[in-house]
Amino acid sequence: MTDCQGDGEGTMSPMELFEKLNAQGEKVRSLKSAKAEKAEIDAAVQLLLKLKVDYKQMTGQDYKAGCPPSENLIVSNNGPAADDCDGEDLVDPWNVSASSTKGVDYDKLIVRFGSSKIDKELLERIEKVSGQRAHHFLRRGIFFSHRDMHQILDAYEKHKSFYLYTGRGPSSEAMHVGHLIPFIFTKWLQDVFDIPLVIQMTDDEKYLWKDLTLEECHRFTVENAKDIIACGFDTLVLTLLNVVKVQKHVTFNQVKGIFGFTDSDCIGKISFPAIQAAPSFSSSFPQIFGGKKDVPCLIPCAIDQDPYFRMTRDVAPRIGLLKPALLHSTFFPALQGAQTKMSASDPNSSIFLTDTPKQIKNKVNKHAFSGGKDTVEEHRKYGGNTEVDVSFLYLTFFLEDDEKLEKIKEDYTSGALLTGELKKILIETLQPMIAQHQERRKQVTDEMVQQFMTPRPLNFKF
Ligand code: TYM
Repeated sequence: MTDCQGDGEGTMSPMELFEKLNAQGEKVRSLKSAKAEKAEIDAAVQLLLKLKVDYKQMTGQDYKAGCPPSENLIVSNNGPAADDCDGEDLVDPWNVSASSTKGVDYDKLIVRFGSSKIDKELLERIEKVSGQRAHHFLRRGIFFSHRDMHQILDAYEKHKSFYLYTGRGPSSEAMHVGHLIPFIFTKWLQDVFDIPLVIQMTDDEKYLWKDLTLEECHRFTVENAKDIIACGFDTLVLTLLNVVKVQKHVTFNQVKGIFGFTDSDCIGKISFPAIQAAPSFSSSFPQIFGGKKDVPCLIPCAIDQDPYFRMTRDVAPRIGLLKPALLHSTFFPALQGAQTKMSASDPNSSIFLTDTPKQIKNKVNKHAFSGGKDTVEEHRKYGGNTEVDVSFLYLTFFLEDDEKLEKIKEDYTSGALLTGELKKILIETLQPMIAQHQERRKQVTDEMVQQFMTPRPLNFKF
């Protein structure tokens, strides 16, 4: 038996049993389609049924292809989708769509993904340990879910530092404002905890998934890196160490269960998750951590990236490395409404970091979904709905002043503030924010990008 395989149902984890079930299901299907002997098919079906009973006993859940157990419960792009699990919202690294106009039901997602809610207690701990008021993304529930954040804080309190890891898959020349969310938050974490950060640019991922040439992907990497550097970072590192270790310990069955890959997906896609996993381990960066294996990693990202890190957390103990901790954000919605996220591949859904003040004004006025009423009279009488109003939702991300935001909410809900007026507030918030970003970005040269991407020691002691 190789170390890629489990060692008998008795000692199997729920995930391993789930994989075994996947494999057995496939075996039954292939025997049937090959019109194998009845006895052989019956034996395979019997084993499948037995495994299903074991699975139910172990997890308390019925086995369902494409719906892995709790922490490893994952969704897919081209296989069985999250919706198949219980007819709910679809959230994975490639798709986000919600059944309600209010957007994704994040509380249900926490249960399905097996993560934990960022509650008041955790917020207070973050404030206590960091000595800073929590960022408004935390106070307003924009970062809403986590894995093992208490462990990170426990260690930090004992003067054991950690590092941050986040990333970007450069799929287009311009990033949109939604992409800023994890980077703005990561910058805050880095400043508050004074810790190193690595940022992975996955041009390889975009080459594998999109209809782009390698040259285009590389150009987008450089352009996107400028936007990231303009957020104020001083670290950008790429890595390949540990990739093969992960590849050796994750089976095709596992990634099929997690990401929904099929037999006709290219091997590049199948092996890619190991590339995104590797920077979660401090031993991937000898130049920063001097070969230390035990520096904990904290990953801020939107919750669409969680499948990669469920896989990473599953494999980590099997390769003798620490599971990374995570902080998950909600999605910055598309202009058309919270049912889907802002996406660079749909220009009308997005406000780009390259947009001019005029483009921002036109996009908001033309496309931002309104929670207001159809006529001024009705709006004054009944008021607007801030839960679905995209302009208001955007302000919750970018208007830092809590009192101002509360007043806008009150006035819009009562009908005192009209949709046009609300849109104007948003436009006047976004225009200077994006203009300042563009100003900072202009200062970033190709040479600076090159320097940022050169693996090098950082100014931190471990
Ligand atoms: P990518 O380029 O799709 O997204 C980059 C980061 O932005 C987050 N994000 C959003 N956040 C809020 N609202 C949105 N509408 C929105 N759209 C995207 C993503 O969750 C992500 O954090 N495979 C990754 C690249 C990557 C990575 C990582 C990301 C490699 N290593 C480690 C996070 C952490 C990708 O294609 O991200």
